[in-house]
Amino acid sequence: MTLRIRRLAPTDDRSQFASGNPDVDCFFQRFAGQNQFRHHIGVTYIAIAAEVIVGFVTVTASEIEIDALPDERRRQLPRYPLPVLRVARLAVAEQAQGRGIGKALLRFALDLARKTAEVVGCTGVVVDAKPAAQAFYLKYGFEPFALLEGGLLDRPEPTPLFLPLSAIPPLPPLRIR
Ligand SMILES: CC(C)(COP(=O)(O)OP(=O)(O)OC[C@H]1O[C@@H](n2cnc3c(N)ncnc32)[C@H](O)[C@@H]1OP(=O)(O)O)[C@@H](O)C(=O)NCCC(=O)NCCS
Repeated sequence: MTLRIRRLAPTDDRSQFASGNPDVDCFFQRFAGQNQFRHHIGVTYIAIAAEVIVGFVTVTASEIEIDALPDERRRQLPRYPLPVLRVARLAVAEQAQGRGIGKALLRFALDLARKTAEVVGCTGVVVDAKPAAQAFYLKYGFEPFALLEGGLLDRPEPTPLFLPLSAIPPLPPLRIR
């Protein structure tokens, strides 16, 4: 399978996408476009296989309070709010799950964090992981951190996870099953 990841365009048909998580699907169908094209809140990248949208990741510029990080990380950093790339949403279409597409989208986001670090500064990647997807992120070295304020209202409550830029692993070529 050949997978292509590119920026969402206004003409992309998002209406058929279904990941099995209704909140994430609703976001993609109703809000991803206006957030990107009108409000510039975040940018969505879509994974395409055989002309079909099989997954997406939405990223946005964000920051975290240094006091939220574990002691050993805090000691290495100045006492400012830290710029990070936030993985705001990530999902794979139900029929395409388990083939490496989620991993490919996450790696794409990690690569964006590296590039962001080069051009404007970025100390790592954060994600508010839903309970069902937590283990997926922990596999790639994300670690839980304390949320000091501004928790999401989502239920079940997501867990904030952080991957420092220095822990982003080298990214060898990826095989999609
Ligand atoms: C979670 C999700 C993005 C994973 O995508 P996917 O394409 O099925 O995952 P991949 O095939 O790329 O899996 C990559 C690796 O993660 C593992 N993995 C996938 N989903 C996992 C999960 N929920 N928990 C633990 N590990 C998981 C796979 O076993 C695989 O491991 P391997 O590299 O050792 O073989 C997808 O299941 C999904 O969209 N779920 C519904 C929406 C959602 O909950 N999004 C997360 C919002 S925070």
